Amino acid sequence: MRRHMAGQKTKQAQSKLKYLGRIKRLPPPQTDGRGPSIRVNTSGRSYAHVMALENVSVGYGPTTVVAGIGLDLYRGDKIGIIGRNGSGKTTLLRSLIGELAPIEGDIKLGNNVEVAYFDQELSDLKPDLTVIDNLWELDPGAEIGRIRSFLGRFGFTGDDGFKVVRSLSGGEKTKLSLARLLYHPANFIIFDEPTNHLDIDSREALEQALNDYDGSCLVVSHDRYFLDRVVNKIAHIADGHIKVYDGNYAEFREQTTETVDTAKPKESKSKDTYRAFKEESRRRSRYKKELQSLKARIVNQEREAARLEREINQGIPRSDWEMLHDASERKKQVEETLLELYARLEELEDADFD
Ligand SMILES: Nc1ncnc2c1ncn2[C@@H]1O[C@H](COP(=O)(O)OP(=O)(O)OP(=O)(O)O)[C@@H](O)[C@H]1O
Ligand SMILES: [Mg+2]
Repeated sequence: MRRHMAGQKTKQAQSKLKYLGRIKRLPPPQTDGRGPSIRVNTSGRSYAHVMALENVSVGYGPTTVVAGIGLDLYRGDKIGIIGRNGSGKTTLLRSLIGELAPIEGDIKLGNNVEVAYFDQELSDLKPDLTVIDNLWELDPGAEIGRIRSFLGRFGFTGDDGFKVVRSLSGGEKTKLSLARLLYHPANFIIFDEPTNHLDIDSREALEQALNDYDGSCLVVSHDRYFLDRVVNKIAHIADGHIKVYDGNYAEFREQTTETVDTAKPKESKSKDTYRAFKEESRRRSRYKKELQSLKARIVNQEREAARLEREINQGIPRSDWEMLHDASERKKQVEETLLELYARLEELEDADFD
């Protein structure tokens, strides 16, 4: 339900200005490394049909874990994979990256698809090496300044870089593994439970990074709030089979409830009223959640814009053309994202929930 009233346009314009104004007014971002600012770089465009599976079965030796998989992924798709513990999510991902041969069928990747994989077990980390060395080994020719500044975006500042990995917390290990994953650009990223140990700030930073990312991704996650904000399709694994739904997690829930409901016999009138009431309250709580997360994202993006502006004006030596260029490109992106977010905010603020 939308309420149209006189002066609404003016109100919208004013609110946009108000928010745009905040870009400049926000205090400089904190430099204690608390709020990471993750960015996911794309490595050129992939072919539009990124991945195709038709009647594929995966598993171990003679044991099939998931059978008859049909799954298509197109450029820009962000698919969430859900399913109970042990249902075969990791098995599917390992098959997709070629670590495990499918029992049946072919897994096809499109041209120019460059895959990066985030392993649930973080087994890529070297426990005896420092944080810096864990990243540096990916690019031994890089200047240490570049390595440290990249780590800074994942919350490792000052002496953090000299900590040995085995002494890190679960959240820090996850962030380091994400840093390694995202160091080299990729246009198709496969994540196995990336948010498990992450604090809220980092989770939001990752959400935001994936929202801004124009490559494709597959994410296994139990975190439905994360899925709600990131994905456009849900692949549900249950009883050895997979089913794909359009939309985020909330939409998946609606569709699956509907499927179950339509299978039932006709319901009485009072039940219909009850259902309508439930639906309305679900809608309200979705609205509130989205509003909340939208505002958080706006604040984050505004901080990022302010940080980039400071970096461009003071932080980067004038002679470093490449970094200046990167920073101003990034700033442009952030400002574009902000405009989209403001537009969505106006839409939501316009919705009538009284
Ligand atoms: N290396 C292996 N050899 C044989 N069976 C395995 C192997 N790894 C996992 N399995 C079995 O395959 C099934 C699917 O496991 P998988 O790890 O893919 O589940 P999952 O959905 O990722 O679970 P979780 O949510 O706990 O990460 C389970 O029954 C598991 O015991
Ligand atoms: Mg798993």
